[in-house]
Amino acid sequence: MHKEFDLDKIDLSKEPPKEEPDRQYYYMARCRQRIREFQQKSGRVPKACVTTFGCQMNARDSEKLVGILRLVGYEMTEDEDADFVIFNTCTVRDNANQRVYGRLGELKGYQRKNPDMKIALCGCMVQESSAVEKIRGSYPFVNLLFGTHNIYKFAELLCTVFDQSDMVVDIWEDTNSIVENLPVERKYSFKSGINIMFGCNNFCSYCIVPYVRGRERSREPREILREIEALVADGVVEIMLLGQNVNSYGKNLEHPITFAQLLREVEQIEGLRRIRFMTSHPKDLSDELIQVMKESKKICRHLHLPVQAGSTRILNAMNRRYTKEQYLELAAKIRREIPDIALTTDIIVGFPGETDDDVEETIDVINQVRYDNAFTFIYSRRTGTPAAGMEQVPREQVKRNFDKVLRTVQTVAREQVARYRGRVMDALVEEINENDGSLVTGRLSNNTLVHFPGDASLIGQIVPVCLEECHGFYYMGHRV
Ligand code: 5AD
Ligand code: SF4
Repeated sequence: MHKEFDLDKIDLSKEPPKEEPDRQYYYMARCRQRIREFQQKSGRVPKACVTTFGCQMNARDSEKLVGILRLVGYEMTEDEDADFVIFNTCTVRDNANQRVYGRLGELKGYQRKNPDMKIALCGCMVQESSAVEKIRGSYPFVNLLFGTHNIYKFAELLCTVFDQSDMVVDIWEDTNSIVENLPVERKYSFKSGINIMFGCNNFCSYCIVPYVRGRERSREPREILREIEALVADGVVEIMLLGQNVNSYGKNLEHPITFAQLLREVEQIEGLRRIRFMTSHPKDLSDELIQVMKESKKICRHLHLPVQAGSTRILNAMNRRYTKEQYLELAAKIRREIPDIALTTDIIVGFPGETDDDVEETIDVINQVRYDNAFTFIYSRRTGTPAAGMEQVPREQVKRNFDKVLRTVQTVAREQVARYRGRVMDALVEEINENDGSLVTGRLSNNTLVHFPGDASLIGQIVPVCLEECHGFYYMGHRV
């Protein structure tokens, strides 16, 4: 998905171009030169490793990093004992940060053995000044730090790392630009994420995302459609449209368009079989969207609709801008219009001021909506967010309530998933089963996984599968 021009044709005796993405291709050519020098000196191809923490947005960003690294000549590896290692970080909850610090300690050992090894950190954590200070102070062996807004500049920054021994730090507060047409290398040949927008304007009071990902910016529909068409031509059958709040897509474009209208256009793309999207904010989910989903042959029967909490008082303190009743009404409407849809959600337990009674309201929502799956998180205090300054809930209480919520989610989800036992449904085969090489793993439209006998030739195909045994969150089945 990039301009098909030859890096070797770029004249490096000239000044780098000012405009993007040409400027980055110029720097990729320079990086490639450095990689060739390395190869001549050491007699081997240098290896690079990209480790991703966090959400689908980060996974997509990592594919962009891999696209550039491979184009400049690195061999990719999953082994962090490599010549270039980059951590694409997450900071939505503190445990994500702690994992990064732990892993950085391990990298230091590898760098001691291989002094030419370069270590880089990018992503959401790097947008936090406290994290940057900590890295400068305690992890000075890191060679490169950059944030979420200038990821498109990766090639240029990589060149600087080759030329300079001090830590290279380039972090922007925000941006309103979107650079198109850079290389991307997909993890899966048959499915792909596509960014349709960046950033978030919602400022839920617990959430750090608006501070680290900046203001909402939508990509032009024609750029999105062009990208999907190219992906389909390259063998992709399933796409996931990505944004922190896809339901407000297009509002700020020069020619505004709704998310539902965008979906209608994506649906027209011939050869595309499945459309998914993530994430929907309940306050912005329109009737038009429900209608488009209902009529669509390609939009998957799955909607991720984060509720976060069941108590209207807590929702208000979270700045979610809907009440318990409004959410329940919306969920009921969706189930009424699209009966075979799977609804999933995110829940936070232990938000400041949450009482046992508030948690009962969350449990009530789980029982009423009957989620097919739910991600349950313990509230994590994020410096700089409004909720960090509110009175925190004692740990013991949070732990007790978390377990209670989790048990409810598991009971309900098991029953929901089991509804389809005995049915034949289409599964997109994604991979060979991790534990049993005679099985493959496929994903149903409703996002449930099914394992069944098959081999690698099925990967990327959509095949009908009979759902025999339900094992909680997944099925065992056979191809029909
Ligand atoms: N603590 C716990 N969970 C959080 N999330 C976002 N911020 C926090 C936080 N401070 C959860 C929300 C969101 C998901 C991606 O992460 O549930 O939907
Ligand atoms: Fe965070 Fe709320 Fe934006 Fe989601 S909608 S990224 S929870 S601020």
